[in-house]
Amino acid sequence: MARVKEVFVCPPTYARLEYSINPWMDPARPFSAARAVEQWEAIVAAYREVLGEERIHVCPPREDLPELCFFGDSVFLCDGKALFGDFRHPERAPERPYVQAYLTSLGIEGAKVPDGVVFEGAGETVMWRDKILFGFGKRSDELARHFLRQTFGLDTIDLELETDDFYHLDTALLPLGDDLIAYYPGAFGPIDTATIESLDCEKILVDEEDARAFACNSVVYERVVFGSRGPRRLYEELRRRGYEVREFDTGEFLKLGGGIKCLTLQHYALEE
Ligand code: ARG
Repeated sequence: MARVKEVFVCPPTYARLEYSINPWMDPARPFSAARAVEQWEAIVAAYREVLGEERIHVCPPREDLPELCFFGDSVFLCDGKALFGDFRHPERAPERPYVQAYLTSLGIEGAKVPDGVVFEGAGETVMWRDKILFGFGKRSDELARHFLRQTFGLDTIDLELETDDFYHLDTALLPLGDDLIAYYPGAFGPIDTATIESLDCEKILVDEEDARAFACNSVVYERVVFGSRGPRRLYEELRRRGYEVREFDTGEFLKLGGGIKCLTLQHYALEE
């Protein structure tokens, strides 16, 4: 079973909506970094309370990196090792060397995918039990799974994303523990849906309305779910099953096509 030993975040101090690299982003919409910072602070305060101060690391923001707040999108972290990637879009490419230097300064050892291979880190990699669920197709190259397996010595289950709106795996699939996965079937083709259904655990099917409110882009820590305010049916179902669901206003991040999970780089640890 994978557990989260620490998380890394970066405040959206310099967040801007000035380009469009996914269908949610419309640069004509008004965007407020100040409001984004308020929303982010509420989430991080809850992390401090639930996970404990010592598990939260805050990376300094940088003015020329307007989407650095989606801190995990260039790296996957497990058991003290990192696999760094490269972004599909040049707009975000300069984030990776900065994130790599920051994590390296904290003693995390890293490999990087070879140049020319696109891998968008934690956006595409979700731990379930001792496996890496890996999304590809819209952003990451399928080939990146090879480097995940090589770096971490873990199996990957590779899932192709089929729609532009759900472009990262963490927008469409959310493990809640060893025995439960929630996912939005509309993001996957029939073969990958069958693969998800074949996993030996219970599934919750997320409907389109909840999926579009970024229900799957939540963070789960033990029995606490940190989610965006908006989705209803998934959270009702989780509360019914005994999860504590905390909801946060993520309105500014949704304008960028992101939610709580995108804001949170989790460092997983495997245990027996
Ligand atoms: N605008 C960003 C992009 O398109 C949002 C990233 C969201 N991150 C995530 N892990 N889903 O790259």
